[in-house]
Amino acid sequence: MLRAILIYLSKAKWARRLVTGWGFARRAAARFVAGDTLEEALGAIRRLNAIGLSATLDHLGENVTNAEEASRATDDYILLLDAIREPEFRANASLKLTQLGLGLDYEMALSNMRCIARQAASFGTFVRIDMEDSPTVDRALHIYRALHEEGFTNIGLVIQSYLYRSREDTAKLVAEGTRLRLVKGAYKELADVAYPRKADVDRCLDDLARMAIDAALDHGAEPATSDGRVPPLTAIGSHDEKRIAYARKYAQMVGLPKSALEFQMLYGIRPDLQRRLAEEGYPVRVYVPFGTEWYPYTVRRLAERPANVWFFLSNLFRR
Ligand code: FDA
Repeated sequence: MLRAILIYLSKAKWARRLVTGWGFARRAAARFVAGDTLEEALGAIRRLNAIGLSATLDHLGENVTNAEEASRATDDYILLLDAIREPEFRANASLKLTQLGLGLDYEMALSNMRCIARQAASFGTFVRIDMEDSPTVDRALHIYRALHEEGFTNIGLVIQSYLYRSREDTAKLVAEGTRLRLVKGAYKELADVAYPRKADVDRCLDDLARMAIDAALDHGAEPATSDGRVPPLTAIGSHDEKRIAYARKYAQMVGLPKSALEFQMLYGIRPDLQRRLAEEGYPVRVYVPFGTEWYPYTVRRLAERPANVWFFLSNLFRR
């Protein structure tokens, strides 16, 4: 119930206007968001890299309302890619297609994504297309495939295990050699498209992990690149220790080396687990969001864990 309310609030314009005016809310968001500026985000990447973790940088923003905003977001990503091409950074980028105009015009989003993919390819880096709510999934897959067919092999996708369709999508995508990040899913979905029960979402994530691990073996168990930019074919985006243990155990059983199985987690969540996995020899990548559009991202993080709401409110009393 609380999850549903929070996910509703993450999209409500009136709530965004209200909450972003509260100083304490911005302070609380700092747990999940690396800062307002690219400079602050680069500082966070340096700190992560120093302890053996790679990063994926997200310039926060989604559901733009006009072509100028989409074009500005595209330019911002090109600047971001330029900043992280310095060899000191072990990082790539993640983005949302509705930030590039997918909600307005498919061709606009495709063209903006092509500019970003081209720039990333010229820098030898990788861009992950985050997955948003279910009405956008088909168009995200089309954009990925269109660019892949044009020769952009430096892009990858996210698959959400709460969607019924994901086993079928994953089977096709792994056969095409797609670099996937497997997650549970963070949006409000109806029972006609997504599993309402957590146990089913968890089971599906394990199934997808098995499929992706088998495919990674078939494709030669390619490791994450040593510069920390390009991830292996299989990445698990989760903080759930049971899901992580399942993927590790299955990979070990079928002989996929640790270097070909990446674990990804969100900035500010389970830093202990991030370090532990890296110390054990797995590639670990932290998703680092930054920017002034922190509201919807932060409220989705609250929805994932009701205890975070109390953490959020406790900032009201901090100075
Ligand atoms: P689960 O929610 O079961 O949590 C397991 C444990 O992790 C909890 O018990 C708690 O200890 C910890 N935890 C999880 N969330 C927490 C939080 N917010 N605060 C504090 N502790 C928390 N979703 C999507 O729809 N599209 C996408 O593109 C992405 N991209 C993405 C990238 C990466 C790197 C990650 C890690 C996640 C995403 N997600 C996402 C979000 C994902 O779908 C999911 O909502 C969250 O990861 C939470 O699910 P868990 O798998 O962590 O399990």
